[in-house]
Amino acid sequence: MPHDFMPGLAGVPAAKSAISDVDGTRGVLEYRGIRVEELCQHSSFLETSYLLLFGRLPTAPELTQWVDDVTHHRRIKFRIVDLLKVMPEHGHPMDALQAAVAALGMFYPGRNVKDVANNYWSAVRLIAKLPTIVAAWARLRRGDEYIPPRDDLPFSDNFLYMLTETVPHPLWSEVFDDCLILHAEHTMNASTFAGMVTASTLADPYTVVASSIGALKGPLHGGANEEVVMMLREIGTPAQARAAVEARLEGKHKLMGFGHRVYKVKDPRATVLQDLCMRLFNVCGTSPLYEVAVAVEQLAGERLTDKGIYPNVDFYSGIIYDKMGIEVDLFTPLFAMARVSGWLAHWLEQLRENKLYRPDQIYSGEHDRHYVPIEKR
Ligand code: CMC
Repeated sequence: MPHDFMPGLAGVPAAKSAISDVDGTRGVLEYRGIRVEELCQHSSFLETSYLLLFGRLPTAPELTQWVDDVTHHRRIKFRIVDLLKVMPEHGHPMDALQAAVAALGMFYPGRNVKDVANNYWSAVRLIAKLPTIVAAWARLRRGDEYIPPRDDLPFSDNFLYMLTETVPHPLWSEVFDDCLILHAEHTMNASTFAGMVTASTLADPYTVVASSIGALKGPLHGGANEEVVMMLREIGTPAQARAAVEARLEGKHKLMGFGHRVYKVKDPRATVLQDLCMRLFNVCGTSPLYEVAVAVEQLAGERLTDKGIYPNVDFYSGIIYDKMGIEVDLFTPLFAMARVSGWLAHWLEQLRENKLYRPDQIYSGEHDRHYVPIEKR
């Protein structure tokens, strides 16, 4: 039966899901029916992960158990550290992360995805170990020692500690944890879909997450957070913003961190991230990048709002990470550390009623051609 071709599958439902929902005209994002703003106010990243994976907020004993399980699975095997050590230090951290996650699957059972108990432990391991891999890579590539996780530190404090060897200011870990909540899930985005295509073959969850990491890396998706900060640095000052924005748009170049397939208003996550910038700046001083970003948003408003193009989640997040002294090429791995909980929630949901993804195509090539011997071509 012929179907309409929808480039990029725009508007085509690829699954039924109860995990999250976006209202792109009102600018609302809910995880399991709860708005992300409310989760940032009251929840933690790990509690939010539980909500996404298991469909409801945990009771106090369930939360304690979940946090304990994740906390006790943060360590990585020395062979994973060795693997990171032999990778070229100029390689992109997303490539290191993808390779290390694929390698994790060689150490842990995951192939029998019908084993529900084991699936729980796979989810625990992946959520627990991604930050350790990211921090280990960041240090090893500079020639520094890998810092093992500390069981006495909460999730975000521990990550920042493993990265910097310093227990962070409580405000930093609060802000960072909120950033993780905001990036944890977002309906049928490209990396989630990539993971679901892999999962539909009943591949193990390490391979599923490695597929998602590959899709997240591109600049039209998670890689945009890195590109935004490079763009803001290149613009330099608010005074130079008008000329830079105009030159970009005249040259038909996209403004990184703007636009979205679903949102036709400002992404609600961008608004929360701006508030988080303010909270951080009140204690640590402002960031020159923020001043440039505000000028760019204002100017983009003059040119792009009639097309429904506004800042997305990637526009302000990098300014926070930059203020915390985190290197630009680690921004997308931070996104992956959070989004792994959404990827896994979709994986668990999909396994309950799996169907192999095998879409159709519209063939536009020729038929009935014949082989031509090489000397006659
Ligand atoms: N700057 C300038 N113009 C834009 C932008 C932008 N950032 N985004 C879209 N447009 C224009 C585009 O040029 C096109 O114009 P026209 O119709 O005149 O040719 C129109 O809007 C439609 O663009 P599209 O690329 O076909 O739309 P899409 O729904 O496929 O794109 C998008 C969504 C996110 C790929 C796109 O907005 C984009 O490339 N943005 C910049 C990269 C970015 O910030 N990505 C992060 C996305 S959100 C979080 C995440 O997934 O990580």
